[in-house]
Amino acid sequence: MHNYHGLLLAHNDHIANTTGHRPSFFIRTYGCQMNSRDSEKLAALLTQLGYQEAQSLETSDLALFNTCCVRESAENRIFGHLSRLRHTKETQKPDMLIAVGGCMSQQAEISEKIAAAHPYINVVFGTANRHRLPQFLWQAIQSGKQVIDISEDENLPELDSVPVTTRDYAHKAGVNIMYGCDNYCSYCIVPYVRGRERSRPAADILREIEALAADGVKEIMLLGQNVNSYGKRLANDSLDSGVILDFPTLLRHVNQVPGLERIRFMTSHPKDFSNDLVAAVRDLDKVCKSVHLPLQSGSTRVLEDMNRQYTQDDYLALAARLQQAGIGLSTDIIVGYPGETEDDFIATLEVARKVRFLGAFTFIYSKRSGTPAAKRTDLVPRKVSSERFERLTATIYPILLEINQAKVGSTVHTMVEETSGTAIKGRTDDNTLVHFDAEQGAYKLGQIVPVRITSAKSFYVCGEIV
Ligand code: SAH
Ligand code: SF4
Ligand code: F3S
Repeated sequence: MHNYHGLLLAHNDHIANTTGHRPSFFIRTYGCQMNSRDSEKLAALLTQLGYQEAQSLETSDLALFNTCCVRESAENRIFGHLSRLRHTKETQKPDMLIAVGGCMSQQAEISEKIAAAHPYINVVFGTANRHRLPQFLWQAIQSGKQVIDISEDENLPELDSVPVTTRDYAHKAGVNIMYGCDNYCSYCIVPYVRGRERSRPAADILREIEALAADGVKEIMLLGQNVNSYGKRLANDSLDSGVILDFPTLLRHVNQVPGLERIRFMTSHPKDFSNDLVAAVRDLDKVCKSVHLPLQSGSTRVLEDMNRQYTQDDYLALAARLQQAGIGLSTDIIVGYPGETEDDFIATLEVARKVRFLGAFTFIYSKRSGTPAAKRTDLVPRKVSSERFERLTATIYPILLEINQAKVGSTVHTMVEETSGTAIKGRTDDNTLVHFDAEQGAYKLGQIVPVRITSAKSFYVCGEIV
């Protein structure tokens, strides 16, 4: 790691700090688990350099935005938050440094737009050079000018090797197993802002997981845009066996890490879900029996337009194989993709009824400039897509309720995830959210307890300790 220990002194001077307090930072994270994990690593990097964590963006000396651009709504929200912080900076904290990184800034035209329209922002950096943040801050302080650098630097392991000092949760953590995406689904901006698919060496991944488990982590989420293709871009990576690793093999190794209770992974692309992977999920004791398998659309014609590389039949067959193996499914669905007809939409409803998802994230198509779909002119009117969105959730939510009602009376192993006084929230192996009460302090985070389910709602169940 480059030595930027002078940064702290420079920052102290910049804020004319004579109190002896170390300059503070606060990170606001948007988007997916990859961004959350990146933020933890950036926090560790800043802590290593001597910064302390502030209580809020408004009170920090360094306000850091780790952004998402997967849908327009995410970007609008970020610009709203930035404008509010501008007010704080201009009226109360003129020396505050504001840095904006992540997927939104990685888009060249957006980074220029941010720079031009938001002169109070000091640093704009990207996804592939995030480990160089200290250098950019240093430059911004020294020059007094805005620093914009979204150059791509493939040397990401530099940030991977930073040991995380504080995690968002004590009992669970995400671990990147790969970066980027090569699938180019026609609506999606991720391949353009996260670069080509690269797998991390298995030995590094296992070392990181072993360290987390030794530190008390009970649940690991293996992260990648398409974890099923793990290993494709990783020639000559072998553990003792000398074989090239694929995802099921990696899972088998992770399953052996002592101290772990649960292994999850996100996200799986249906086109790459092999029989070997179905068997690994079914047979490995620590791997949770639920899989997130984005459908996107139930219409084969729309799937083809989306470049998803599977048909409705392929998806249904895979879903049946997984469910027969005792594995539940959750999903992502987009409505209102350009050219989506009423029949296409009905095909999506049909798949939702047949599969009976345990959970679903539903989205209205959002045009992302630079993607192939952005060129389409046959847009679905907003009114129609909103109406389809309502119909989709009206189909899915009652099924969720039925699924949860069927659990009433059964006893489930619940991992304690959140406690507030006597109220506890936990999750089962299949990711059902469970609310229950217990004496204050009776259970600690990450502990697995038997809970008998007494009542059900669409998005959670309530129960009592057995
Ligand atoms: N790599 C993951 C998902 C990444 S983005 C995967 O392939 O499943 C998370 C979800 O956002 C996607 O599954 C998709 O449903 C949704 N999404 C992505 N781009 C979108 C867009 N332009 N409009 C609406 N939803 C989108
Ligand atoms: Fe986007 Fe498709 Fe890659 Fe997922 S698989 S990140 S939806 S391009
Ligand atoms: Fe958003 Fe980037 Fe994740 S666009 S969803 S933060 S990969």
